[in-house]
Order: sequence, then C-alpha cells, then structure tokens
Amino acid sequence: MANVLVLQGPNLNLLGSREPGLYGSVTLDDISSMLDEHAAQLNEDNDEFELSLEHFQSNSESELIDRIHNAGKDGIVFALFNPAAFTHTSVALRDALLGAALPFIEIHISNVHAREPFRRHSYFSDIASGVISGLGAHGYILALDAAHHWLGRNQSDNETSGEGQ
Ligand code: DQA
Repeated sequence: MANVLVLQGPNLNLLGSREPGLYGSVTLDDISSMLDEHAAQLNEDNDEFELSLEHFQSNSESELIDRIHNAGKDGIVFALFNPAAFTHTSVALRDALLGAALPFIEIHISNVHAREPFRRHSYFSDIASGVISGLGAHGYILALDAAHHWLGRNQSDNETSGEGQ
C-alpha cells in the first residue's frame, strides 16, 4: 500500500465559485472524486502496489504544517501539494516538508508564470520532485500519474537493493 496525501492550501475550498476565469468551474470535491476514480483505475491496471489517497484542505498554515509533520506516522509516502497563496510566502511550510522528508509534486491550477510577478516565486519548486502549473484541474491527474510512476520505480529500486541481503 502506498499512501499519498493530496494537500490543498488556502481558498481552494472556494473552487467552483472562486475566479472561474482563472480556476474554472470544478469544485474541490470534484477534484477529490476525479483523483479517487483515477487511483482506482491505476490500481486496477497494476498489481505491483496499491495506491490509497487521503485528502486534506486547510486555510490555516499551522494545520497544513501539522498535517505534514504527521504524514510519516500515518504511513504517507508522497504528497500532491497545491500550496495556493502560501506558495509565495511560506518558509515554514517549506521547512515542514524538508523536516518531514516528504517527497511531493507542486501543483497550480493556473499558470502562475502568466500572472502577477509576485506569483513567479515559489518557496517549493526547488525542493519538489516536479511542478505542474496552468493545466487546470487535469494537472492533479497528471501529478497522480507521475507519483504512481515515481512510487513504482522506488519500489522496484528497493526490491533490487534488497536482493541477496
Ligand atoms: C494557485 C496559484 C496561487 O498563486 C494562488 O494564490 C492560489 C491558487 C493555483 O492553483 O493556480 O490560491 O496555487
């Protein structure tokens, strides 16, 4: 079992009604359901390991930090993270991810490079496994595919390094 945390930052609970020109009409619940369905499909197509998703959204920096701190003890091995506005402000969340040694993909629904200049800087991109920005809600599905691939590769690396021990 590979537990993946889908971590959603501030104001993403408003998706669907929030600035639809930028973020579309898809709600946060729609994104969670899309991801759950996609994970079920990936599990059906692959019997090497089973993906399980956990979803968490908060408008509070401290709650997001606590969720990251607890990830290890909850068996979470990877995160899909849209830090939302904290992308551009939060050294504390960056330190939490580094402290917990939690690998993650950074996701943005909008293309942050095509918006205001202050959105071009991220406290996460240089420590992320990868970054997806501007592909709408579909970016989460692409991130899950990438996480699945990454976890599969890690699993076979572990099996290979365990051989002969
Ligand atoms: C966002 C982009 C951020 O700049 C913004 O503050 C958000 C959402 C995105 O998904 O496009 O809240 O992360």
